[in-house]
This record gives sequence, C-alpha cells and structure tokens, in this order.
Amino acid sequence: MLRFTLLLLLVFCSSLSSSSARPAPFAMRISCGARENVRTRPTYANWYKDFGYTGGIPDNATSPSFITPPLKTLRYFPRSEGPENCYSINRVPKGHYTVRIFFGLIAQPDFDNEPLFDVSVEGTLIHSLKSGWTSNDEQSFVEALVFLLDGTISICFHSTGHGDPAIISIEILQVDDKAYYFGPEWGKGVILKTTSRLTCGTSKPRFDEDYSGDHWGGDRYWHPIRTFGQNADEPRSTENVIKQASDAPNFYPEALYQSAIVSTDSQPDLTYTMDVDPNKNYSIWLHFAEIDASIRGAGQRVFDVLINDDTVFENIDVVERSGDRYTALVLNKTIAVSGRTLTITLHPKSGNHAILNAIEVFQVIAAESKTSPDEVRALQALKKALGLPTRFGWNGDPCVPKEHPWSGADCHFDKSGNNWFIDGLDLDNQVLKGFLPVEISKLHHLQSLNLSGNTIHGAIPSSLGTVTSLQFLDLSYNSLNGSIPESLGQLTALRRLNLNGNSLSGRVPDALGGRLLNGASFNFTDNAGLCGIPGLRTCGPHLSAGAKVGIAFGASLAFLLLVICSVCYWKRRQNILRAQQMAARGAPYAKARTQLSHDIQMSRHHNHHHNHGNTRTAAENGPSLLS
Ligand SMILES: *[C@@H]1O[C@H](CO)[C@@H](O)[C@H](O)[C@H]1NC(C)=O
Ligand SMILES: *[C@@H]1O[C@H](CO)[C@@H](O)[C@H](O)[C@H]1NC(C)=O
Ligand SMILES: *[C@@H]1O[C@H](CO)[C@@H](O)[C@H](O)[C@H]1NC(C)=O
Ligand SMILES: *[C@@H]1O[C@H](CO)[C@@H](O)[C@H](O)[C@H]1NC(C)=O
Ligand SMILES: *[C@@H]1O[C@H](CO)[C@@H](O)[C@H](O)[C@H]1NC(C)=O
Ligand SMILES: *[C@@H]1O[C@H](CO)[C@@H](O)[C@H](O)[C@H]1NC(C)=O
Repeated sequence: MLRFTLLLLLVFCSSLSSSSARPAPFAMRISCGARENVRTRPTYANWYKDFGYTGGIPDNATSPSFITPPLKTLRYFPRSEGPENCYSINRVPKGHYTVRIFFGLIAQPDFDNEPLFDVSVEGTLIHSLKSGWTSNDEQSFVEALVFLLDGTISICFHSTGHGDPAIISIEILQVDDKAYYFGPEWGKGVILKTTSRLTCGTSKPRFDEDYSGDHWGGDRYWHPIRTFGQNADEPRSTENVIKQASDAPNFYPEALYQSAIVSTDSQPDLTYTMDVDPNKNYSIWLHFAEIDASIRGAGQRVFDVLINDDTVFENIDVVERSGDRYTALVLNKTIAVSGRTLTITLHPKSGNHAILNAIEVFQVIAAESKTSPDEVRALQALKKALGLPTRFGWNGDPCVPKEHPWSGADCHFDKSGNNWFIDGLDLDNQVLKGFLPVEISKLHHLQSLNLSGNTIHGAIPSSLGTVTSLQFLDLSYNSLNGSIPESLGQLTALRRLNLNGNSLSGRVPDALGGRLLNGASFNFTDNAGLCGIPGLRTCGPHLSAGAKVGIAFGASLAFLLLVICSVCYWKRRQNILRAQQMAARGAPYAKARTQLSHDIQMSRHHNHHHNHGNTRTAAENGPSLLS
C-alpha cells in the first residue's frame, strides 16, 4: 500500500471579485495529471497543474459525465502505490470551504471502467463510490463543506479493491464562515456532504458561476429536475427579477428562483423521494419564490412541509414569509433518517397548490478527531528510518478515517485529549532494513511493539526506556548490535521482551534480569555477545573494549613516567654533583637544568590530575608530556 503527499507550494489563486463588495474568496482548482495550467469555458476558471508534485500516474481522462469540468487528464493510483493516496495542500487560508472532487475514467481499454473507492477529507471519510456512479451525473463528484483551520488540507483516496482510484479535479472554494448554518449543532466539528442539490422545473443544469452567482456561494452544481411525478405537477418559470436571492451567508444565484414545480389538481401534494444512506442526520434546505403569475398576494397558497411523514413546517405562505412575490424564501431543517429513503412532501392546506423551486440535502458528518501530532511525527520518522516499502504508504493521518488506518498501527481514542494515539505497532516479518530512530520514544502510549523478523540493524535506542507503557517488546530476529540500554530497566510494565536472534553484546541490565522472577518472559538467546543472566554466559570484568584500551594506555604511561622520573632523578643527582664540582667557577648552567626538571614535574602533576578516571585523556596528553 502506498500513499503520497502533494505539496502545492505557492499555488495560490483567487477568483475575480464579484458584484459584492467583499474581497474575493480563496479559490484553488487543480487539474489532476495536467502538465500545464488550464483555463476552461465558459467561466475561464484557472486550473492548476499538479504535474511533478506527486505520486500516482497521470493519464488521459474520459469524463464520466457532461458536468465534469472539461479537463483532459486525470491522476490514478495503482494498487502498487498502496491503498491510500493523499493530496496534502498547503497555504490554504483559515476558513470555511466547499471541497469538490470529480472522479474520472482512464482513457485506456484495459482499465476497470468503474473504480470504487473511498474519499476522506481531513481524516473524515466523506464518500464511498457506489456501483453505477458512472451513469449518474450527480455521482460523478463528491462535495463537502469543511472548516480548514490549520492552513492545510489533506484529501485521501482509499482503495477498496475495486479498481484504481482516478481523479480529474480538486476544487477548494472558500465560502462564508456562516454558510449553511443550521442550528447549534453546526460548527467546526461538522462536515456537510452534499447528497443532492436540485433546481426544479427546468432541464438546465446550473453551476452558480455559470449563472453569474456570487463567488462566495462556492460554485454549487444544481441538478435539474423538471417534474417530480408522472405529469402530476407542472414546471413554472419566469424572467422576472427575484429579490433577496443572493444574500449572506449562502449567496444563491437568482436563476435558482426563476423556475419551480407546482402541483396540479390531479395530485395536490408535491412529493419528492430520494435514496439516502440509513442512520444518518440530514440537513435539508428548501427554496421557494412565488413566481406563479396567478398568485397575487399572501393567503392564496398555503401548505405544510413533511419530511418522512413528520410535519417540519406548518402553514407555509411563501408570499407572506418572504414579504413579497418574486422574493426568495429559504427554510432549513435537520433530521435523523433511519431508513434508506428521504421523502419530502408539500401538502397544500388551502387554496392553491404547492410550489417548490429548489432542494438541497446534506449528510451531516461528525468530523474525525486526528492523531496527536507528536505521534504522527514519530511514525513518520519511523517510516523513514525503517525504509518502509511503498506498498505501506503511511501518509495522511495514521488512525483516521477509522475505516482505513495505517497498516501495522493500532489506534486508541483518548476522550480527554480528544485525539487518537498509537498503542500498538506490528511490523513483524516485513523485510524492513533500516534502524530504530530515537523518535520512537515519542509514541508515549505504545503498549506493544513487534518488529520481529526483519533486518533492522544498529543499536536499540536508549530512549525506548521512556515508553513506560510498553508491555510487549519484540525485536527478535533482526541484526541489532551494541548492548541492551540500561534504560530498558525502567520498563516496569514489560511482560514480554524478545531480543533473541540479534547481534547484541554486553551485560543484560540487572533491572531486566531481576524482573525475570516476576512472571515476565524474556528471551535473550542467540546473541553471541550477551551475558549476565542464567542461560547466558557469565560476564567477564565489567569492562568495555574502550576501557580495556584505556587501561593498557594508562599502564604504559605509568611505566614511562617511572622511567622519566628515574632518568630525571639520576640527571639531577649528576647535576648537583657537577654543580658542586663547578661551584667554585659560579656557572648559571645548573640553575637552568633544575628549572627544567621542575617544569616536567609540574606537567606530570597536571596530567595526573586529568588522568583520574579518564585513561583516554592520559593517552592523548602523553605525547605533550614527553615532548
Ligand atoms: C494522452 O493523449 C495524447 C494525445 O492526445 C497522447 O499523445 C499521450 O501519449 C496520451 N497519454 C497517455 C499516458 O496515454
Ligand atoms: C436554518 O434554520 C435555523 C432554524 O431552524 C435558523 O436558525 C438558521 O438561521 C437557518 N439558517 C440559515 C442560513 O438561514
Ligand atoms: C444526529 O443528531 C443528533 C442530535 O444532534 C445526535 O445526537 C446523533 O448522534 C446524530 N446522529 C448521527 C447518526 O450522526
Ligand atoms: C511478534 O510477531 C511474531 C511473528 O508474527 C510472533 O510470533 C510473536 O509472538 C510476536 N511477539 C509478541 C510479543 O507478540
Ligand atoms: C553495529 O553495526 C553497525 C553497522 O550496522 C556498525 O557501524 C556499528 O559499529 C556496530 N556497533 C557496535 C557497537 O558493534
Ligand atoms: C528463545 O528464542 C530461541 C530462538 O532464538 C528459541 O529457540 C527459544 O525457544 C526461545 N525461548 C523461549 C522461552 O521462548
């Protein structure tokens, strides 16, 4: 499995300012697999190339739907690159965004022509492609409203074993901070995924921007629905100006309200039924404007709105509520749906029939909490140090979406910290060749670590001794060398420690050896150099190779000093004798010699002081003493 990261540094884009006085919203559009930036009609939207930034394979695209942006390329992710592939995009200003991803088909005959995969945004699973999506325009993309607060967005595609994920485009379009506010449950922890967005009484599909909608609307796609039933209703349309359409926070295009469906005598109720995922909450937005010329004022058209047989709005009089004819009215309601269908019924109460201009249905998804950033960094360091093969991937978040955790990582949710952490890592027998990085100790909650049966070399980092939650540590059958760090003695929770089958040497820390009695099971066999506990050879003097070299040096040094002292003593005696002999002639020579001898004694003393407990310094200082 493989995931990759795309860093779109400095890719920054803004669309032209609309009629509103606000600054233009942030907008980034990516044409996946493109070698050059692309502009597309009719709005001349700018699509950034992603060529050269990322993994996956660029190819020519076949658009599954006529609403797919007119782009010619896509990027797909073959199984060999792992089951998870992510775009990680930097420099996205903090804010509220519509994120939309169009899926593609690879323009080659030997590819699965309907890949099925999962899509996550910021670690939250927002979509699973359903079979048949290629023949349904509304399913050729996934769209969701998300808050992005840390300057980045991570979008991942998760293979489910049904073909290679293939992506044509990614759009990240800023919307109003309060867009689609539906009540107290709305907020940063909520993602609204578009389930359906319909414009009634027309056969024209609409994107906001194609109809000069405000850029702060997020360039929504409106799927046309001309009728709800078999001629039981009628389309209506008008060219009249619609008031209050493009208002904050949602900035709907005026054209949305210029067509509608009205019910007729043969079936006074207007009923629309759609398929939904069961046991989810849905936020439903209904759009009205009285555009029927036969309605002259308030009181002439009153109806109830029922959703799945519950009355959610009573006595709706569009003219009265909106204040006038040709004036937009938006109502929203969030409900829990247990079954697989969602039915919206407009039931006339008096006078005329019901009218409906547009419907939006969102699935309310609780945003996932992420893995603690420290632990993510630790795993990334481990990935690098162990040289984890491409098939592992290990990008995006290790623990979420819950349905697609990193392979080998066991996750646990910490309610108090509101984040995920790693409590187990199983990477045994994975042909890993690297070394163990010190960062492994940042996995503070690790209870089990199994790296058995690889060819990991180098030393056991002594920082591992700080992961005090460790109960199972299996590093057996690797190529680890050096000694077992004393710090492992601090792992008081250890119940099993397998270090057998390595090239470890030296004494097993007493703290570990002693614990054998407490029912823990340790295995240190098949390490030629280990000693010090029953079953292993007994240790020699507790000396390292370095210490032995040092001692040898120290001994030779002491011998040399002895020789020098004897020579000096002998010379000095000779000098004194000679001085006594020359005293009558009064030569200064003897004094000089005495002083030299004194110098040597001083430096010897000096060195002796340094030597104390550090034989290497003695060896280094030796030559200066003798020179
Ligand atoms: C995509 O199509 C162009 C011609 O339109 C062709 O030159 C190119 O080789 C194709 N790319 C791939 C990966 O097939
Ligand atoms: C949605 O409805 C709630 C009441 O149910 C209301 O408070 C809120 O303002 C509405 N949202 C918008 C954007 O009109
Ligand atoms: C639906 O919303 C209610 C109230 O906010 C919440 O308790 C419940 O968990 C939600 N259900 C789902 C499936 O999200
Ligand atoms: C580690 O994995 C190996 C191989 O799968 C297994 O035999 C061993 O029992 C595991 N070690 C621990 C401590 O669970
Ligand atoms: C451990 O092995 C590495 C090579 O993998 C070597 O560079 C290092 O000197 C060895 N350390 C000890 C203490 O033998
Ligand atoms: C310890 O490991 C050796 C192989 O290195 C194995 O033969 C032995 O059975 C193990 N001992 C225990 C107690 O598991």
